Amino acid sequence: MRVLVVGASGAIGTRLVPRLIERGHQVTGTFRSPGNADRVRALGAEPVALDLLDPAAVRRVVLAAGPEAIIHQATALSNVRFSRNLDRSFALTNRLRTEGTDALLAAAREAGVRRFVAQSFASYRYARVGGPVKTEDDPLDPEPPAVARQTNVAMSYLDQAVTGAGGVALRYGGFYGPGDDGLAGPVRKRQFPVIGDGAGISSFIHLDDAAAATVLALERDEAGLYNIVDDEPAPMREWLPVLAQALGAKPPRHVPRWIARVVAGGGLVMMAESRGASNAKAKRELGWTPRYPSWRQGFAAAYGGRPESLLAGD
Ligand SMILES: NC(=O)c1ccc[n+]([C@@H]2O[C@H](COP(=O)([O-])OP(=O)(O)OC[C@H]3O[C@@H](n4cnc5c(N)ncnc54)[C@H](OP(=O)(O)O)[C@@H]3O)[C@@H](O)[C@H]2O)c1
Repeated sequence: MRVLVVGASGAIGTRLVPRLIERGHQVTGTFRSPGNADRVRALGAEPVALDLLDPAAVRRVVLAAGPEAIIHQATALSNVRFSRNLDRSFALTNRLRTEGTDALLAAAREAGVRRFVAQSFASYRYARVGGPVKTEDDPLDPEPPAVARQTNVAMSYLDQAVTGAGGVALRYGGFYGPGDDGLAGPVRKRQFPVIGDGAGISSFIHLDDAAAATVLALERDEAGLYNIVDDEPAPMREWLPVLAQALGAKPPRHVPRWIARVVAGGGLVMMAESRGASNAKAKRELGWTPRYPSWRQGFAAAYGGRPESLLAGD
C-alpha cells in the first residue's frame, strides 16, 4: 500500500517506517522540525514537511501523496516541561489530536483514502473504580483531575472521530525504549516518586512493540479501538524501582499522597489511583504478540540494566 505516516520523524514514527517498508509498503513520511527530512529519508520514506495545524497544507500533502492509508502519529511533547498542569503541557498535542485529526480525516475523505490509523493513549484514562485492568469496553474516567480534563477530552475526541470514520485508534501504553527519555529522564533524576502506597496501576509498551502492532492494525479492514499495552499492568511500587534499576538510578523516593497533591497537583495523584489496560483484544483481533511481554524484561533491554529474573538471584 501507499502509506502516509504523519509524524514519521518521531519516537514511534522512526520505528514504524522501516517496518512498513519491510512489509512491502511504499511510505511518505512527514516531519515538522526543519532538518528532519534527512532522518525520514534515511528510514526509506519520501520526506515531506507538514504542519498538521495548517489544514490547507494537510489537504495539499495528502492529495499529492495519494495514499491508500494514513497513520497519524503526530504529537508535540519533545522539549515540553511536564508541569503540574498537564493540560498546559499537552496543549499543542491536544490540538494535533483534535484539529489535526479533523484536517487529516477531511483530506482522507477527499482523496478516497481507505484506511486510517491514529495514536491514542490507554494509561490513566479508564475509570478509577472497580477491577485493576480494563478493556476497551470499560468506561473512561468520567472525572479526570481538573488539570488533565482537556487532554482527556482531546483523546476521546480522536478515538470517536477516527473510529466514526471507519478507522482504528490505538490506545498505547506509556512508551519506553532505547533513546526515549520521556519517563527515563525524571526517574534518573529521582524526580519521579512512588506515590502513597504505590498501588496505582500503569500499562506500558516498548516503542518497538507499539510500532509492530501499528503495522498489523493498518492491515485490518474494520474500525476499532485497541489497547496496545504489554501483558503486565502493574502497580507503581513494582515497576518504578525496576525502571530505576535498569537506568542505573538510585531507588525512587516515596511521598505520601497528600504531599504529592500539594507539590505536583492532581495529575500525579491520578497515577496513584489509575487502572491498567488489557491487550486481549489486540492479541485476538490483530494477531499481535508483544516481543517484550512485560516491562520487567523491557526496561532492562531498553536501558541496559539486568532483567529482574537475574536480580532475584543476587
Ligand atoms: N505520545 C504520548 O502520549 C506521550 C506522552 C508522554 C510522554 N511522551 C514522550 O514524549 C517524548 C517525545 O514526544 P513527541 O510528541 O515530541 O514525540 P515525537 O515522537 O518526538 O514527535 C512526534 C511527531 O510529530 C511531529 N510533529 C510535531 N508537531 C507537529 C505538527 N504541528 N504537525 C505535524 N507533525 C508534528 C514531530 O515532527 P518533528 O520531530 O519533525 O518535529 C514528530 O514526527 C517521547 O519520549 C515520548 O515517549 C509521549
